[in-house]
Amino acid sequence: MEEKINAKAVKDFFDQRAENWDKEVHHQPAKIRHLLSFLDLPPSARVLDVGSGTGVLVPYLKEKLTGEGTIIELDPSSSMIEIARRKWGEEGIEYFEAEIEEFSYDKKFNCIICYSSFPHFKDKKRAVQNMFNLLTEGGLVAVLHSEGRDRINQHHQTQMVGFDHLPPIASLALLFQEVGFTPIHQEDSEDYYLLIGKKVVDFSD
Ligand SMILES: C[S@@+](CC[C@H](N)C(=O)[O-])C[C@H]1O[C@@H](n2cnc3c(N)ncnc32)[C@H](O)[C@@H]1O
Repeated sequence: MEEKINAKAVKDFFDQRAENWDKEVHHQPAKIRHLLSFLDLPPSARVLDVGSGTGVLVPYLKEKLTGEGTIIELDPSSSMIEIARRKWGEEGIEYFEAEIEEFSYDKKFNCIICYSSFPHFKDKKRAVQNMFNLLTEGGLVAVLHSEGRDRINQHHQTQMVGFDHLPPIASLALLFQEVGFTPIHQEDSEDYYLLIGKKVVDFSD
């Protein structure tokens, strides 16, 4: 897996784009709902939204977290986090300016979602390992995109983030397994790229 990513350049890139992000980047609600339907989130789940940007997932997560659920928005771009906070406020939501590779939290998560963000992580193995540590037993991790891999990689090629590649789904599934996840759903089609892994702990020994 390619690791030439300059985290500072990625942060600068997203900081500069943050203010216009919601005007320029359009998401299809039906596709987001379809992707989240694989996660079966209980109403009181604690969910980590990695590479949250301006908080595009927040309203969709709130549809599901009708109980005492909490959303944690995580992004190294201070401008993205500032906009997310301005848009969505503090009720049931916490905000952190950090990279997933370094992030720690005092409680475990039921679910960790990387929506349109995984290609930008500078150290993908470390990111997946840390997400494993941050999850409860039985918790789910999801790498989700509303387009297939070819289109996403073509799009990144034309941007400054040209090194930020999405790996073939089989390579990512292998990395998940190396770290300890059981892949429970994987798809790379024209419309979606999704990999969902479960933290299954084996007590048989
Ligand atoms: C393409 S944007 C997607 C934002 C949002 N999820 C959306 O779909 O609108 C990718 C986001 O990932 C963030 N990011 C980059 N490297 C990261 C890392 N190591 N850990 C967490 N987030 C990261 C960027 O700052 C950026 O906001």
